[in-house]
Amino acid sequence: MTSEAEARAPHPNPPPQGGEGVGERKRILTGVRPTGALHLGHYVGALENWIRLQREYECFFLIADFQVSDHADDISRVKGNAFEVALDWLAVGLDPQGSHFEIESLVPQHAELTTWLSWWVPLGMLQRNPTLKAEMAGLEGDSVPVAFFNYPMMQAANILMPKAHLVPVGEDQLPHIELTREIARRFNRTFNVDLFPIPEPLVGRVPRLVGVDGNAKMSKSLNNAIYLGDDAATVTQKVRGMYTDPTRLRATDPGHVEGNPVFMYHDAFNPNVEEVDDLKARYVEGKVGDVEVKTKLAAALNAFLDPIREKRAYFASHPNEVREALAAGTAHASKVADATMREVRDAMGLNYLG
Ligand code: TRP
Repeated sequence: MTSEAEARAPHPNPPPQGGEGVGERKRILTGVRPTGALHLGHYVGALENWIRLQREYECFFLIADFQVSDHADDISRVKGNAFEVALDWLAVGLDPQGSHFEIESLVPQHAELTTWLSWWVPLGMLQRNPTLKAEMAGLEGDSVPVAFFNYPMMQAANILMPKAHLVPVGEDQLPHIELTREIARRFNRTFNVDLFPIPEPLVGRVPRLVGVDGNAKMSKSLNNAIYLGDDAATVTQKVRGMYTDPTRLRATDPGHVEGNPVFMYHDAFNPNVEEVDDLKARYVEGKVGDVEVKTKLAAALNAFLDPIREKRAYFASHPNEVREALAAGTAHASKVADATMREVRDAMGLNYLG
């Protein structure tokens, strides 16, 4: 453990057990774009796995600010978002003393590795990438920023940099992990080395959480999200307005549970299975109103979010601890990046000056 970490004020996350063994664990690298605060979809799609695996693996949690998309001209906003992401990570219990919170652009080796790797990425592979295609839909072909093609390659560099074995992510990221696996194989084959492990993806228990409006995906841009930092009144209000069964006009009409967002959320977040089963049974018989189903959902969500909010509030009022977590994690990630880049240069024979 670093002296920096020891000097930090006590905080509600318990220290890791056996921190000395850190170097022997297999590694995870995963991350998000700093587009703003995280929501319930992030939690069940990915974060939950990060929390569960953070002791078993040495984890690099990356704030991918090179992937700022259209905000490269407004970095103060990106910075604010990065801080929100770090707050959410701390609030859900990611532990910066056992893991590394890393800011991508402060480890410029990511860009260096991307430049080399891009020689082993056929353009067609990027053009066929469904996640990329969806993001570029609606953009005029000729004016698409080159960065759209660059970022999936950089994501591969992010993952290969600490030689990660596992990448727990949301479902939409799978094409990028597939690309990473292909790039790793090509590099290893080209230079006849075993430098990069072929990383495995891991998707969370609810790969795609519906939005409160019934839209297929909870997302900030669709304005249909419940945020981890939302207060109880906001959550209750969002749940009250949730899309349910459009065919049901009165509480006495038999309702549909299947495909009903309110029940999907009950299944995902209400630990009281008996209560959920009872509500479902009464719903299909027309014996319970939406109000009761939603009131119980709001209670379950608020019980789930309460401890997260409490920790979030603690860290929001101790911004130095957040900053410290980012600084220490980024410093460690830089060292790991230096070591990998030395190996990459060795493998490629980049030794001009002997
Ligand atoms: N593309 C991811 C997102 O949109 C963020 C990301 C960048 C990432 N680099 C990564 C995820 C490496 C997993 C591994 O949220």
